[in-house]
Parts: sequence; C-alpha cells; structure tokens
Amino acid sequence: MFKEKRNKEGKEREETEYVIRAENVDYTYEGSKTKALDHLNLKIRKGKKVAVMGGNGSGKSTFFLCLNGIRRPDFGRILIDGKQIEYTKKGLLDVRRKVGIVFQNPDEQLFSASVYEEISFGILNLGADEETAERAVRQVIEELELSSFQDQPTHALSGGQKKQVAIADILVMHPKVMILDEPAAALDMKHTKKVNEMIGHLSERGITVLIATHDIEYAYGWADEIVLMHEGRVIRHGEAEEICQDLEGLKEAELEMPAVLRVYRKLIEKKILSEEDRLPRTWENLEARLAESVRTDRSREEM
Ligand SMILES: Nc1ncnc2c1ncn2[C@@H]1O[C@H](COP(=O)(O)OP(=O)(O)O)[C@@H](O)[C@H]1O
Ligand SMILES: [Mg+2]
Repeated sequence: MFKEKRNKEGKEREETEYVIRAENVDYTYEGSKTKALDHLNLKIRKGKKVAVMGGNGSGKSTFFLCLNGIRRPDFGRILIDGKQIEYTKKGLLDVRRKVGIVFQNPDEQLFSASVYEEISFGILNLGADEETAERAVRQVIEELELSSFQDQPTHALSGGQKKQVAIADILVMHPKVMILDEPAAALDMKHTKKVNEMIGHLSERGITVLIATHDIEYAYGWADEIVLMHEGRVIRHGEAEEICQDLEGLKEAELEMPAVLRVYRKLIEKKILSEEDRLPRTWENLEARLAESVRTDRSREEM
C-alpha cells in the first residue's frame, strides 16, 4: 500500500498530484438493500495506467459512473484534478470534459447515424465550434485508423468496430482521465489486440487510464497500478508487481496470480533462472530472460 504524507507540504502536493480522489464514497441503488459502494477510498496519480479488478458486483462500474458524475454518491466526495464534483449543469459538463467513460456495452453509448456524426456529437455538445470539431474528428479518425468505416451507420458495425468508435468518441474530447469498463468483453482476439493498441496510445498522450478487467494477465502486463475491489470497497491498491504477488488480496478479489509470474517463480525454485529484482511482466519478458540465461550457461561451458 502507498504511504501517506501528512505534513502541509504533502497536503498541497496532494492537490495537484492526484487526478482522482474518492473519499468515503457510499452509493446504494434505489430499492436495493445493500451498498454498491461502501466507504470507498482511492487516490490516483496523474498519467497512471490503472487496472481495476474484482468479481462481478464488486462495484467497479458503479464507481466509474460516480467518477464522471453520472451517479452521485449518497455520502463522501469525489475530486477530479483537485476539484470536487459539483452536481450542477455546469459542474457536470466540466467533469465530463475531464473524465470520459467507454461503457462496457457500446450500444449504450452510440446513437448517431454515422461513425463521423457519432464522433462529432460529443465534442459539439461540449460547445466546440464546427470547424474545431471537424478538425478534431478528422485527426482522431486518422490516428485510430477508423477511416475505412467512417461513413457507415454505427448500427451496422461489428462489436469490435463499435468499441473502437466508442473510444474515439471520448478521445476526441481530450479528457484528462479515460475510463474503460471491460473494454475487451465479448471481443475476438483480433479486435482485443486492436483495442489494446488504442489503449496503449492513450497513456502515451499523458491521459490517466482506468480499466476494469477480469484479465489478470493483461492487467499485469499493462498496468502501473492495480486496484482490487470487493463488496464496494477498495481492498488493495499498489504497484502491479506488488498486487500480483499478494495471494491473500488476489483470493479475496476472486483472482489468481498471473500465469507468467507463477511459471517464473517455478523456474526460480528449480534454479533454472536466478532471481533478479525485475520481474517478468509478459511472456515475451520471460522468454527473453530464459534465452539470456541459456546464453550465459553456454558461454560458461565454453570457458
Ligand atoms: N442499475 C442497477 N440497479 C440496481 N442495482 C445495481 C444496478 N447496477 C448495479 N447494481 C448492483 O450494485 C452492485 C455493484 O454492481 P456493479 O457496479 O455493476 O459491479 P461490477 O461492475 O464490479 O460488476 C451489485 O450488487 C449490483 O447488483
Ligand atoms: Mg461492471
């Protein structure tokens, strides 16, 4: 877990350092007896890649909806870029400019006739003039390589294409924070790869990215930090390496240690690899380490 800084200087730095601060957030859906969010606390630094994980119903989507003001906590508060969300028309417009959400189901998000219109809609709605909007939309279409289907009606797109348009929809507004709720759900391998590439793009632009995912291998390979949720609370938050070795936390969040890490540990245990500070994060990393160790052994034999 991250250490807290309690002095005044630390307090001031906190205002600028964290792009998201959720403090004691409670949320209960109307008619429900249980809290969907139960005193949730979380602070996220600018520019981080964060995977939010936890079983179904642990509160990931509800938390995301609170982060851009779609849902209003019953208790507690949320600060975006140091500013508490205000639930007025202006306040909500402001938070939506900063925090964009790509919903799990793109059909909840897309409603315009064509891809081009769809991507323009949000940015025009936020008050951009036609010329600025057009330039931004063209740029995003080019950057995300969507031109081959830009004139198609959104309802005729495949699930993977819809997801790409939904990402473009948000990216065009230049948000500070981008939230993707289970972006790879229901996508085939090709589209998952494409969407993951797009996600890589986002952090390169300095955007803070939060992703809900059940894929621990992906989270471990991609994320700087992992947040584990259980029953509406954050039960762990730390560096990806730390969380992925925390067996108790993983178990509570109904997850398992990434396979690449399990295999790596086995190789250490069997003395096939020697332990280093740096852990392999992907299969490619591990493969490279093995190749390196074979090379070292050979050169030793030749000596
Ligand atoms: N629209 C809704 N109405 C009532 N209860 C809901 C609604 N959406 C989610 N919930 C409940 O809130 C809790 C958290 O759900 P959710 O945020 O969707 O979790 P997750 O995204 O982690 O699966 C669950 O108990 C779920 O049943
Ligand atoms: Mg969800």
